[in-house]
Amino acid sequence: MFTRARHRAACRLLPFAARRFIAAVSGPTPLETIIEDTIKTIGPISLSKFMRTCLTHPEHGYYIHKDPLDKNSGDFITAPEISVAYGMTCGLAFVRMFLAQLQYQSRHNPDFKVKDKIFRVVEFGPGKGSMMRGLAMVFKQYIIDNPVEIVMVEKSDILIREQHKLLCKFQRLEQVDDYNFESITEWGQPIAWQKNDLVDMDLDSKYMNFVVAHEFFDALPIDRYIKTQHGWREYLVDVREPEADRPGKFGLVVAPHATPGSFIPATDDRYNKLAVGANVEISADAHMYASQFARIINSGDVGGALIIDYGPKDTIPINSLRGIKDHKFVDPFWEPGKIDLSVDVDFLGLSRLFESQRLKTTIETQSQFLNSSGLPLILGGLASSTKEQQQRFETLYQRLTGSAPQDMGRAYKVLQVYRNANKTT
Ligand SMILES: C[S@@+](CC[C@H](N)C(=O)[O-])C[C@H]1O[C@@H](n2cnc3c(N)ncnc32)[C@H](O)[C@@H]1O
Repeated sequence: MFTRARHRAACRLLPFAARRFIAAVSGPTPLETIIEDTIKTIGPISLSKFMRTCLTHPEHGYYIHKDPLDKNSGDFITAPEISVAYGMTCGLAFVRMFLAQLQYQSRHNPDFKVKDKIFRVVEFGPGKGSMMRGLAMVFKQYIIDNPVEIVMVEKSDILIREQHKLLCKFQRLEQVDDYNFESITEWGQPIAWQKNDLVDMDLDSKYMNFVVAHEFFDALPIDRYIKTQHGWREYLVDVREPEADRPGKFGLVVAPHATPGSFIPATDDRYNKLAVGANVEISADAHMYASQFARIINSGDVGGALIIDYGPKDTIPINSLRGIKDHKFVDPFWEPGKIDLSVDVDFLGLSRLFESQRLKTTIETQSQFLNSSGLPLILGGLASSTKEQQQRFETLYQRLTGSAPQDMGRAYKVLQVYRNANKTT
């Protein structure tokens, strides 16, 4: 089973895997032609424009025409797909966050009346809906005094239909307009889908908002910069001759002069204090989405977020762009629109943004998070007494929490964001 986190053992596979794929190259993809024509007309394009086109072009984008998590034709697997216990553990973490904040409100805010509130959970990039399945099951059991509503932010029609199939069983998927859909989950919770970049939802203070994003931020476009003697310069995507171990038709070149993008790292001391020669990756889209998370959470007295992904805990991501196809890493400039693209997430940058919006944050490894949020308990409850099943759950536990290169416990990080209090005292 191949996860998208980059670990040392898997990285060594890149040139080998890429070479194997050269033989399979079969004419340009529709996006290859579109991108090449664009570059020939206007010159090299920004990396974020290249990535956005490859991933979410309205017709040929990777996430638009493909189910990347399909059991037979998919390119990778994610933790919520491995076991429903994963989503359930995240559900328990939200319940704990919720209870701690109720305790805080009862001490500090005499006007707060929990019985008037709606518990709203918003998921960005929900894949096949497996995380939400685990969450909805837990909320059905533990959030009993408040109505629960669900919002899914998803660009892909194919995945919206998969999510609806998994969560709503026999309830119809109602199309409100080109960008909005509605239904009811099998646990009776109203569920709405949105395809817009700028989420359009009622931010009335009657909602307590809990936001989740699992392997969403790593799918957002980045730009890459290098610090030179003459200031920051942006890497741009240009046409190049394919090489033996880099079969893609495009590659990165450093812009010879300042571009509008190169002023972004120059505005922040975090980047400016780096030495000449330093490379950095910055995602304006990640900032845009994180700002929306903060606005949604801050619209109620109680709320929080779980952002789970891979990337360094406290350093700036560098050179992390990778292509993923058929459970292998490949050249990210190969077959645009046919392969997944992924980058490391800047956890420290996100956490600083949330803190600048008066929210509190913690960053921990997935192993620490799952162990303290009840995964062993949930697995214990799901396992029957047969030896085979116990063995299966031990393997699953190791996969999600272990620190070996093929395990997810150390490579994946969990950023918790919350209003007021996170732990009951
Ligand atoms: C790597 S998949 C992760 C899916 C799921 N969260 C999981 O962990 O199994 C990325 C998800 O984000 C969605 N996505 C990617 N870019 C998006 C964007 N700009 N807006 C909304 N959804 C997006 C994809 O369609 C997909 O559902």
